[in-house]
Amino acid sequence: DLGPRAAAAWALAAQHFWEAPSEGYLKSDAGRQDAAAGCGPDAGETSLWLLDLCPAGPVSGHLPSANSSRCQLLLFLFLWNRPATRLNYRKRFGKDNVILSDIRKPPDHIFHGGPFIYSDILDYKNLREIVVNNRITWLFHYSALLSAIGEANVSLARAVNITGLHNVLDVAAEHNLRLFVPSTIGAFGPTSPRNPTPDICIQRPRTIYGVSKVHAELMGEYYHYRYGLDFRCLRYPGIISADSQPGGGTTDYAVQIFHDAVKNGKFECNLKSSTRLPMMYIDDCLRATLEVMEAPAESLSMRTYNVNAMSFTPEDLAQELLKHIPEFQITYNVDSVRQAIADSWPMNFDDSNARKDWGWKHDFDLPELVTTMLNFHGSDTRVAQAN
Ligand SMILES: NC(=O)c1ccc[n+]([C@@H]2O[C@H](COP(=O)([O-])OP(=O)(O)OC[C@H]3O[C@@H](n4cnc5c(N)ncnc54)[C@H](O)[C@@H]3O)[C@@H](O)[C@H]2O)c1
Repeated sequence: DLGPRAAAAWALAAQHFWEAPSEGYLKSDAGRQDAAAGCGPDAGETSLWLLDLCPAGPVSGHLPSANSSRCQLLLFLFLWNRPATRLNYRKRFGKDNVILSDIRKPPDHIFHGGPFIYSDILDYKNLREIVVNNRITWLFHYSALLSAIGEANVSLARAVNITGLHNVLDVAAEHNLRLFVPSTIGAFGPTSPRNPTPDICIQRPRTIYGVSKVHAELMGEYYHYRYGLDFRCLRYPGIISADSQPGGGTTDYAVQIFHDAVKNGKFECNLKSSTRLPMMYIDDCLRATLEVMEAPAESLSMRTYNVNAMSFTPEDLAQELLKHIPEFQITYNVDSVRQAIADSWPMNFDDSNARKDWGWKHDFDLPELVTTMLNFHGSDTRVAQAN
């Protein structure tokens, strides 16, 4: 029988333990092992927590039906700058089964197109609440500060990309979620083989973005082997999508060039004409992501895969654009920060493991990409005139 002071102290300690951000709580193996073993001050709560969430258990190989009454909401997606992504996932899983989230206000069609909630990746308690209240089973973690933006704000990039990742890993491990985290060509550096870059090689990136992504790959794999977390990760090349603005990455030029070519017939490129980088159209990126998430676990010989579609320079892209817009002009005004980043990145990606293990195959090459992008940007008139 505890006296009132001891009882208050006990309640406070239990509350701190319960409410502590995962940083302090799960990083302690002792805390996790106690909880898993059913001992420790709040072991009852913790084990009930692990057992009770998503009683249908982890998804193995196949998605539960969209109508499943047990786990209605499948995906928790941090991403709003890529409208195609949102629409694609909502279409694939049913709009009510996909919760989109960001710290920024969504445009009308996103807000009214299905569930959208505010969530800051740095607020662990809120993440946990969302996962619990919505019985989340899969989590796609896209929030990040990209390469060029990250160099301009290292401490924020470190917080969002590293602390945010820790929060996501912990909430996914605690609630038995299948977790997708995108990595990038930026996870390699100047000492990595660049043409082509294999899955397993030296990774010594020189940007906070790259460092945080290597950290994400390693931590995800560690949680997989240590705690059985179903972590899946693709290293995306530069992603090109028609319906979004560039997000502050080094491959941004390959998105911006289409906006400017259609609007003004000219483009000033911030990378040298000969800078070769791997690239992928958004549809291929989304399909690769869904395919690796749906792949049977036994087909995955690794947990982090390179995926690729094409590799080109600004000059190659300009030449392809000229076929559609003969008056198009490209000039170069090199940004030294972005150029240094690009010069340390892969020129070509070896994605043979993804092709072998789960059948990855891209649909879009450079000509297909350019035609699709120009069609989307409504350049039919120019193309027609050119022809
Ligand atoms: N765009 C590419 O070419 C590319 C290539 C490789 C990998 N990736 C990866 O894909 C993911 C998305 O990239 P993107 O191009 O859409 O970037 P983006 O900058 O457009 O989107 C990142 C999102 O994260 C959100 N965010 C920032 N801080 C947050 C916080 N504290 N809490 C919650 N959300 C927060 C931002 O509001 C933004 O909407 C990133 O993880 C990136 O590393 C992108």
